[in-house]
Amino acid sequence: MILRRIRENIDAIFDQDPAARSRLEVVLCYPGFHAVTLHQLSHMLWTHDFYTLARCVSHFSRVWTGIEIHPGATLGRRVFIDHGMGVVVGETTIIGDDVTIYQGVTLGAGAAARMGSATRGTKRHPTLGNGVVVGSGAEIQGDIMVGDNVRIASGSILLKDVPDNSVVVGVPGRVIYRDGQKVKDEVPDIEAEAIKSLKDKVRKLEKQLQSVTACIESLQLSTPVAPVNEEEEAPTSPTSTDPVDVFLHGAGI
Ligand SMILES: CC(C)(COP(=O)(O)OP(=O)(O)OC[C@H]1O[C@@H](n2cnc3c(N)ncnc32)[C@H](O)[C@@H]1OP(=O)(O)O)[C@@H](O)C(=O)NCCC(=O)NCCS
Repeated sequence: MILRRIRENIDAIFDQDPAARSRLEVVLCYPGFHAVTLHQLSHMLWTHDFYTLARCVSHFSRVWTGIEIHPGATLGRRVFIDHGMGVVVGETTIIGDDVTIYQGVTLGAGAAARMGSATRGTKRHPTLGNGVVVGSGAEIQGDIMVGDNVRIASGSILLKDVPDNSVVVGVPGRVIYRDGQKVKDEVPDIEAEAIKSLKDKVRKLEKQLQSVTACIESLQLSTPVAPVNEEEEAPTSPTSTDPVDVFLHGAGI
């Protein structure tokens, strides 16, 4: 049974990673493979109440691989931790089958971490469904449910449940695709809204300044001053090369 799962893990890594040239290379040089295999041992010790020994195995694995998986965490089959350095998987995490996790990912306790021992024994960490991909540096915090086949972009921070078949990006994480359909427009882009509001404000201030300058000049020249329309919105042309306009029209930064 254990050997079958180890072989399955090797095959999964070899199939998924184009950089792998042989299964021997996977066995010798893949920290994700070492961490998942050692976790099988530490988890078995943990479930047989050898808690300290289990933690020692997990700690050795962390020193060896740079990947910290608490022995209490439950991992499904064919979990692939690619590169892996800096990955942290908390005690009550549940990971489904065929999940891929890149380097620097935290599956953490979120707000419960602040409550110390009061939350001992409670579910504090996320549950990942089958087929989930977690991009490098993503943070998934708290007892939340990440549905099947969810893809989480690098650097995202997730604090809420995510429905199946979604793509999530950003801080805080927003669903931008669900079941293959784009849903970005339904969700306000808070950063873009803030920048747009500041741009409008600057434009109004510039107009007021122009008006004051014109007023001073008119006092000197005795000509009437044109009134300023403060409600006028700043134009944001899709062809503008202004970096703010480029951002507001959805270019990547
Ligand atoms: C999020 C991810 C899983 C989605 O993959 P995908 O479904 O194949 O789709 P894409 O890569 O085309 O990205 C889908 C959208 O998410 C956006 N996106 C991707 N990564 C993003 C990020 N980190 N932050 C913000 N937006 C991101 C893309 O711009 C694209 O937007 P668009 O449809 O408006 O053009 C993938 O882009 C990703 O980040 N994978 C992790 C990769 C990783 O960590 N690699 C480390 C290797 S060492």
